[in-house]
Amino acid sequence: MSNAAVSVRQGADRSDGPLHFALIMDGNGRWAAARGLPRAEGHRRGVEALRRVVRAAHELGIRHLTIFSFSAENWSRPASEIGDLFGLLRRFIRNDLATLHRDGVRVRVIGEREGLDGDICSLLNEAEELTRSNTRLNLVVAFNYGSRQEIARAAKRLAREVAEGKRDPDTIDADVLGQYLDAPDIPHPDLLIRTSGEQRLSNFLMWQAAYSELVFVPIHWPDFDKAALEEAIAEYARRERRFGGLVAKTAS
Ligand code: IPE
Ligand code: IPE
Ligand code: MG
Repeated sequence: MSNAAVSVRQGADRSDGPLHFALIMDGNGRWAAARGLPRAEGHRRGVEALRRVVRAAHELGIRHLTIFSFSAENWSRPASEIGDLFGLLRRFIRNDLATLHRDGVRVRVIGEREGLDGDICSLLNEAEELTRSNTRLNLVVAFNYGSRQEIARAAKRLAREVAEGKRDPDTIDADVLGQYLDAPDIPHPDLLIRTSGEQRLSNFLMWQAAYSELVFVPIHWPDFDKAALEEAIAEYARRERRFGGLVAKTAS
């Protein structure tokens, strides 16, 4: 098998279910609006859904879970909503870190740290440091994250190495560039789920999701639960992953 085929298959193709699933947790605001509640309440209920789903991921033996919690483009929202979202992240880490650690969860954070408030950076570092040796589930939090920005950061680091004479440009290929992304050791997502009925990536994991199976579910994120996750996994199991090749013949 060529190197290209090997790297595309990163993100193990297990027949018994996805090893890594990625979540675009969307629809908090619409969930709240439909109930005459403030958007902040939708976000608060979204955190409860997240707790349920992390527990369900444990129970289902999923090894890597990447969640989109704040996008590089979400800065265009009103300051009050950004404040609510950041407040929820602070509270989530303060309240849930000990439980996550006890349950063997390793927290990783991807996205741009520069420009974030110092206390948020300290909390993110603390979560990563405390849980560094845990192996049961990698919880990858995409915070202040945009895929284009991540790829541009990787390109900049490579360009710097070339400019400093530390790298020959001819050595740069997709596998090398992939090693400069924010969490290069995490296998690529097998399954990417977006809630709320929207069918787009919104600048999430565009490199890593090249061969992910995409599942769009109509419910809003605060209503997402283990049953919804199992349904998405069942849909994944019905898909046929080909990675550009031909369908494997079944033995008859
Ligand atoms: C997802 O819900 C949470 C974040 C983007 C942080 P939204 O806030 O996008 O909710 P809708 O899409 O407006 O309903
Ligand atoms: C994507 O949702 C970002 C997160 C879930 C954190 P958005 O609600 O920001 O995406 P768009 O604007 O509808 O594409
Ligand atoms: Mg949205």
